[in-house]
Amino acid sequence: MTLRTSPEVGGMGHAVKRKEDPRFIRGQGTYVDDIELPGMLYLDIVRSPYAHATIKNIDTSKALAIPGVLDVITGATLAQYNLHWMPTLMSDMQMVLPVEKVMYQAQEVAAVLATDRYTAADGVAAVEVAYEPLPVVVDPFKALEPGAPVLRTDKPGKTDNRIFHWEVGDKAATDRAFRDAAVTVKEDIYIPRIHVCSIETCGCVAQFDRVSGQLTVWMTTQAPHAIRTVFALVAGHVGLAEHKIRIISPDIGGGFGGKVPVYPGYVIAVAAAVLTGKPVKWIEDRMENLQADSFARDYHITAELAAQRDGTLTALRIKTLADHGYTDAAANPSKFPAGLFHICTGSYDFRAAHVEVDGVYTNKPPGGIAYRCSFRVTEAVHTIERMVDIMAHELQMDPAEFRKKNFIQPERFPYTSALGWEYDSGNYGAALDLAMHKIGYAELRREQAEKRQRGELMGIGISSFTEIVGAGPSKHFDILGIKMFDSCEIRIHPTGKVIARFGTKSQGQGHETTYAQILAEELGIPVADIQVEEGDTDTAPYGLGTYASRSTPTAGAAAAIASRKIRDKARKIAAHLLEASEEDLDWEPGKFFVKGSPERSKTIQEITFAAYTNHPQGMEAGLEAVSYYDPPNLTFPFGSYICVVDIDKGTGEVKIRRFVAVDDCGNIINPMIVEGQIHGGLTMGLAPALFEEISYDAQGNIQQGSFMDYLVPTAMETPNWETDKTCTPSPHHPLGAKGIGESATVGAPAAIANAVVDALWHLGVRHIDIPITPEKVWQCLRANGVTA
Ligand code: CDP
Repeated sequence: MTLRTSPEVGGMGHAVKRKEDPRFIRGQGTYVDDIELPGMLYLDIVRSPYAHATIKNIDTSKALAIPGVLDVITGATLAQYNLHWMPTLMSDMQMVLPVEKVMYQAQEVAAVLATDRYTAADGVAAVEVAYEPLPVVVDPFKALEPGAPVLRTDKPGKTDNRIFHWEVGDKAATDRAFRDAAVTVKEDIYIPRIHVCSIETCGCVAQFDRVSGQLTVWMTTQAPHAIRTVFALVAGHVGLAEHKIRIISPDIGGGFGGKVPVYPGYVIAVAAAVLTGKPVKWIEDRMENLQADSFARDYHITAELAAQRDGTLTALRIKTLADHGYTDAAANPSKFPAGLFHICTGSYDFRAAHVEVDGVYTNKPPGGIAYRCSFRVTEAVHTIERMVDIMAHELQMDPAEFRKKNFIQPERFPYTSALGWEYDSGNYGAALDLAMHKIGYAELRREQAEKRQRGELMGIGISSFTEIVGAGPSKHFDILGIKMFDSCEIRIHPTGKVIARFGTKSQGQGHETTYAQILAEELGIPVADIQVEEGDTDTAPYGLGTYASRSTPTAGAAAAIASRKIRDKARKIAAHLLEASEEDLDWEPGKFFVKGSPERSKTIQEITFAAYTNHPQGMEAGLEAVSYYDPPNLTFPFGSYICVVDIDKGTGEVKIRRFVAVDDCGNIINPMIVEGQIHGGLTMGLAPALFEEISYDAQGNIQQGSFMDYLVPTAMETPNWETDKTCTPSPHHPLGAKGIGESATVGAPAAIANAVVDALWHLGVRHIDIPITPEKVWQCLRANGVTA
């Protein structure tokens, strides 16, 4: 993540779409917004200025009087087809367009269909909506108080704003461990709402062929197959069957979890295309994307740790209030309403742990997307890594030594955590040792002590995180009932050239390169002869898509398994060609040869040609294979990050002097791509640590509605990342690989926060919520009597 497009300046409301806006100049790219079809119509959306209000009237007359405005679609229009509500990924319901009331600021209220996008924007400005404001609930704690207005009046019998209560772990054993503990620490930690802010906003082009009944939707989605199934389930009653729906996810300018949900704009565009028989384009602008699309985090956590006096951790207890906004649209596997938050025991060996999470409705846009995070792992890691640091300081132990004392030791893997996860492999001490060596930890501690004598503020923060990525296995993981596996289909043409298709969808992670590398390695066919395709439901095998760093653990494994199926058949053909028995053949990448007679060999290209021209009698022709890979377990990548900060006593500014990141994702397929994933991920970890937050005032007005206030870090704010690696292969993955896409985003914020608190601990500071802004630090310094 580096420099982004300029922010659109303006208050709440619809952004003014100026004709000279550079986003409207067509390039020759392959993104959704590059698609122009003859006769195409454009959709733009009227949004609510209120966070909670009854809609009294929608006057469309002025908009319809504008030449080129063809229609204004309202909730009433969609209600005729029962399409005004749709299910969320957690089987809650969300509005496509409201018929009665709006539930958050910037919610879709109506959609204008016009012959060009400028006219559509003019139409939006001319739609007049009369609202009657309702009491607004912004604070999730107040939302649960008796007498709080019940927000989901659409749910018969609902008498409060609680969505779910979920708990895991042994409560009695945990309470007992706390009673017996020599030392306990407790902290309230808030992990604020943030937004993915991918460079490309969301959008689609929907085209409906009235003759064939075929719907084609080019859309910015990370999970095209799941979307097709959802469309078929939601719109089956109006005649859209799954075999008549084609979802194409072309190049995507970043997803980070934000392009997993189905947003109302997609559905309205599809409805408009079906009703008019014309292609319809809907593209969000930057402010709509920031204000209305699903958000991440928003967890209010109270965490406690118990330990013995010698520094042995014994128990973890956590209570959490999860603000989901007006509907539970979290991108979680159905079985886990709080995602994988119960990985919160982290890299440490706890005997007892207990976690409770309550989901709450408020007047905000839906939250709970897995922002570069495997379903709440970032929240879990931030909590445990902050708490471990607090406990170490409380015990006056060095935070690195404290961690090493409590790490799950290498010989304990596979390790079952107190909250039920089976960690596949790990060597946490090795990663931390390497990070400490690389940064010169002992010397930095000496420097810190000297500086403290002189009144200077320097901090060293560690985060030794464990990730959990690669959902399935399908026995535990599904999205809306669809089991989580992933797929690869390989077809080898007679001349030895390959087309391989996958159920995942890259958004810039480089799957085209890394999947081709896996196939080249497994089949001995040059990378240049391998074509990788994803994202077209008419051609790719069914899969659950790309998010939560699941592609390598699932589809990467499927690529290896499908290749091995092909190799098995190739061996039979080679035996036939060489007039040898299969058992007498050896494989080296690219050819089979007779054991002891390497000159008697057949290359994979010769074998492939024979599969179509000279295959054994009784064998089916061709060389193809498919694998739907259901992983036996998740993979557990990990890392140790160390951050060094200097704090300006005059301004409260935090300067990151050094940041060393040691990652372990098992066997690496492409080191350069992994390095890129880590660099981008670290910057996306820096962002919430120091800059980014979405908050609301008491009326539900968003306080960071544009890039003027929502501070996305650029290259200017990003420090020099120093990276290194250890390698602990996954024992169950066919390639020994673990996912890496989100590790750095998950691990980085705690290292930065721990460094800041480490610099201020001697002043009495125990915790600062992220983002750690200069103002928060300055207030802390002043509260503790420090002046410049
Ligand atoms: O699901 P997503 O692609 O976001 O995450 P991932 O599976 O962690 O992969 C991110 C990129 O890093 C892909 O191009 C992977 O093939 C590559 N990768 C790798 O080269 N070696 C690994 N051990 C893990 C990922």
